[in-house]
Amino acid sequence: MSMAEEYSFLQNVPIFADLEKDELIKIEKLGVRKKYKRGNIVVLEQEMGAALFVIITGKVKIVRTDEDGREVILSIFGPGEFFGEMSLLDGLARSASVVALSKTELFMIHRRDFLKLLHEHPQVAISLLGELTLRLRKADGQIKSLSLKDAAGRVANVILMLADDVGVFRKGKVEIDELPLQQDMANMAGTSRETVSRMIHQFIREGHVLLEGNKLTINDYEGFRKQYL
Ligand code: CMP
Repeated sequence: MSMAEEYSFLQNVPIFADLEKDELIKIEKLGVRKKYKRGNIVVLEQEMGAALFVIITGKVKIVRTDEDGREVILSIFGPGEFFGEMSLLDGLARSASVVALSKTELFMIHRRDFLKLLHEHPQVAISLLGELTLRLRKADGQIKSLSLKDAAGRVANVILMLADDVGVFRKGKVEIDELPLQQDMANMAGTSRETVSRMIHQFIREGHVLLEGNKLTINDYEGFRKQYL
């Protein structure tokens, strides 16, 4: 089989989307694949790090913790997404911890190899900037919500963030299969667990969402967004 016909898992990684297949296979050989179990810590906040990770399968959460061990989830990433680029690019400590949410397989590439790749393939650098811009837009949305919105708006924003991160979109509806614990959502929304519970029940009464066990469905994503953001 020629190199170009081989399959590379990097084909499914958006920042590498523009590269030829044989190029992807070369990149694959620069890094290593690593497996993690649910709950394993991949990256620890404040440690020095010099590698970038790409998710092959599974899901991770990006979290920051305080002195009391309380944590806030900043984002959840799934297959094809990357993390660890911040300390790689600015040389500072890891900005957050990264924890596996399920059985997860990652591709790890060292700083030197990744920087070389950016030099050789400027289109990867441009895609990377595009993704970082998107993350900044989300963080801006988060700041706006936390500073200016009431509890309903903040909880709605958390639900919409989760929809963007892990939701399955179909015909205007979004299904979030495993809603995080209400305490986790409370930390993300800067409110109490009781308020999250109260707001979810308000959204159910208003017909915006449906809750079946751990699965939350947003009935009309655009309508919900318009009403609360
Ligand atoms: P790094 O600082 O090397 O390690 C932690 C990683 O978490 C970081 O790189 C980013 O990849 C990711 N990260 C940190 N903050 C955010 C955020 N607000 N949104 C999404 N990802 C983040």
